[in-house]
Amino acid sequence: MSVSNNFLRLGALSALVGMTLGVWMGANQDFVLRPVHAHINLLGFASMMLFGLFYRSFPAAARGWLPMAHFALSVLGFLILMPSLALMLMQKPVFMPAMIASEIGLVSSMLLFVIIVFMATMKKDEPAAA
Ligand code: HEM
Repeated sequence: MSVSNNFLRLGALSALVGMTLGVWMGANQDFVLRPVHAHINLLGFASMMLFGLFYRSFPAAARGWLPMAHFALSVLGFLILMPSLALMLMQKPVFMPAMIASEIGLVSSMLLFVIIVFMATMKKDEPAAA
């Protein structure tokens, strides 16, 4: 399965979960998990979809171990950060070390993405160079 498809599927699933949480918050008038809702939608839906679309636009950038490491770190960081953040907001900071590790993972994944974007946009035959 391509890294692009993986990101697009994760993004779409995140939108479903993030919006459902938004509906739940509104229905219950309980906004404690507002930052979790915002991050599932913006980090999960918006960012992952953008990553997926980027790899669709630059197919050559989707090859090799770098994009795979980018996806692995992104998905791991995201899936650990969301429940950790939720528990912290509910005054149960039991996963604080995991939360810090997931944040380091997410920033590292973004560093990889910066390298991937710069490498892809330096090549003359890619769409962005046109
Ligand atoms: C079915 C769709 C959605 C529902 C029902 C929903 C519901 C909500 C609710 C109830 C709040 C809290 C408002 C308040 O505290 O007064 C909120 C905040 C927020 N939502 Fe959504 N939302 C939806 C979709 C989205 C999407 C698609 C995004 C982003 C891509 C998004 C981003 C945010 C952000 C950034 C906040 C503010 C968070 C904060 O202040 O900490 N939401 N939403």
